[in-house]
Amino acid sequence: MRDTSGKLEKLHFSTRAIHTGQTPDKETGAIVPPVHQTSTFYQKNFAEYDFDYSRADNPTRRNLEENIASLEEGIGAVAFGSGMAAESAVFSLFSQGDHIILSENVYGGTYRVMDKIFNRFGLTASWVDTSDISAVKNNIQSNTKLIFIETPTNPMMQLSDIRKIAVIADKHKIILAVDNTFMSPYFQRPLTLGAQIVVHSTTKYLNGHSDVVGGIVITTESSLLDDLQFIQMSVGGIPSPQDCWLTQRSLKTLTVRLKEHNRNAMKLAQILEDSGAFQNVYYPGLESHPQHELASSQQLDPHGNPGYGGMISVELVDLPTAAKFVKGLSIFTLAESLGGVESLVCHPATMTHASVPEEKRQALGISDGLVRLSVGIENIEDLVNDVESSLKSLM
Ligand SMILES: Cc1ncc(COP(=O)(O)O)c(C=O)c1O
Repeated sequence: MRDTSGKLEKLHFSTRAIHTGQTPDKETGAIVPPVHQTSTFYQKNFAEYDFDYSRADNPTRRNLEENIASLEEGIGAVAFGSGMAAESAVFSLFSQGDHIILSENVYGGTYRVMDKIFNRFGLTASWVDTSDISAVKNNIQSNTKLIFIETPTNPMMQLSDIRKIAVIADKHKIILAVDNTFMSPYFQRPLTLGAQIVVHSTTKYLNGHSDVVGGIVITTESSLLDDLQFIQMSVGGIPSPQDCWLTQRSLKTLTVRLKEHNRNAMKLAQILEDSGAFQNVYYPGLESHPQHELASSQQLDPHGNPGYGGMISVELVDLPTAAKFVKGLSIFTLAESLGGVESLVCHPATMTHASVPEEKRQALGISDGLVRLSVGIENIEDLVNDVESSLKSLM
């Protein structure tokens, strides 16, 4: 039996995505470790065991945690049953009276869980334009314990400078957490830029096939890892072994999928911009994006080449025009979620961001004419034809 312990961390990203946490099965030699679909485990004697109960730990979940911790360059990871359960675990690290700074333009569910649940338990939040470093500085209070940023944001594709915010957080002994769902570790590794926590909705690019809902938290600090594991075991928002296994299966192709998402989105974004049919095209890979330069230095593949991901938002004049545009698409399918191999389209104002009050949505630029595209890995000519024929129907 080969022993890969210790050697894997020196290997390249795409190799680790396939091999970390994936040592062949000790019992049978199976190249693919089995799904440990069990709630409980045999104990040789009192308190003599490797695993006792699957809420506390499970071999299939542990394999997935090891794999993603390696890709994000953390010391460990803690998996959950959804991205929101993962975020809730991060917020549960804090106590009544603590203050949190969050990007004002986060995923609607992040806004909802903080505004409707954690606020009731005495956490206070400031919603800040974290793309503006002085706004971050100005909102720090003596009880600020966490800065939680999403970059790029969903759906406005606004970036925050992780390196600069990390310096400020460090100076004030504040933990910096980054929701890295949009980029995946293939194009952005916030822990290497100074953050202590990364959160993912693994539902998106990490699983990548729109067939599992999941979440994970990765950290660089052993005390945070202990606390997160305690929260995972105590609150119990765990993923099933089968879902962990499926997500692990998908991670093996993360490199090839993300390259293709990026290539397709880059081409499509340019064509959308050149069409002149939209009031705005938001994609960090376009030179017209106000933070293109930051994107090119912060969002890097494991070889140091810039990458901009697979998400594009476009703005049409009003809701009826947006609805007509979406109706005219046939490959891009109207659905929540993103990051799967198939192209999806979403209307943030009535879908992902419906829980954000209208006034706030308008202030953030999430207009009724805004449409978000999750560009899949289908043939790019087919995707371009799909969008162009829908645009013709608007004329
Ligand atoms: C950026 C981001 N973070 C977190 C979440 C929540 O993840 P989940 O739906 O897996 O709970 C989402 C879901 O769309 C998201 O887009």
